[in-house]
Amino acid sequence: MSDASQHSPNHIFLIGFMGSGKSTIARKLARRYGRVSFDIDIGIARMKGKSIPKIFAQEGEQAFRQYELEYLEYLEDKPSSIISCGGGIITTKECRDKLRELGFVVFLEVDANEALSRISSTKSRPLLSNGSDPQALLEKRMPLYLEVADLRFDTSNKSANQVTKELGEELQKRGLL
Ligand code: S3P
Repeated sequence: MSDASQHSPNHIFLIGFMGSGKSTIARKLARRYGRVSFDIDIGIARMKGKSIPKIFAQEGEQAFRQYELEYLEYLEDKPSSIISCGGGIITTKECRDKLRELGFVVFLEVDANEALSRISSTKSRPLLSNGSDPQALLEKRMPLYLEVADLRFDTSNKSANQVTKELGEELQKRGLL
């Protein structure tokens, strides 16, 4: 765990498994606390002019991971923002290092069953539509989420509004919002 005061430019990153609510919570937190929010998946799709499934299909996962790193670099000179990351951003060391360098990292925890029930369409998630076992994927990634997390926040059985309120208060207590 690292000291938030060492971070510059002090972004707040939300990481966690697909379906953990990162995009919704980032948007709601930003609205509530008057911050800008970014969604890395949406940003990459815009920058590359194609959807995430198309990037995976045409260029492969490795290319997508490189785009995630490039997007983090693009955020370096942005004012302190709340940023939702793709679930697999922690799979490359370069992105893990960059997350730690640029901000405070919140790991939104959820178990694989609840995550799956929250994900409306697995077609938009190439790593689920190819038949990967979500539980196994989550277990494999868990040490990587924990490696970069400054804070773990359990979202199980909580509504998005509840998570926004409780997490917002916790981040405020730490002087981050
Ligand atoms: C991925 C998660 C997705 C997206 C891409 C890969 C992953 O983002 O970045 O499909 O490897 O877990 P969400 O976590 O927002 O679904």
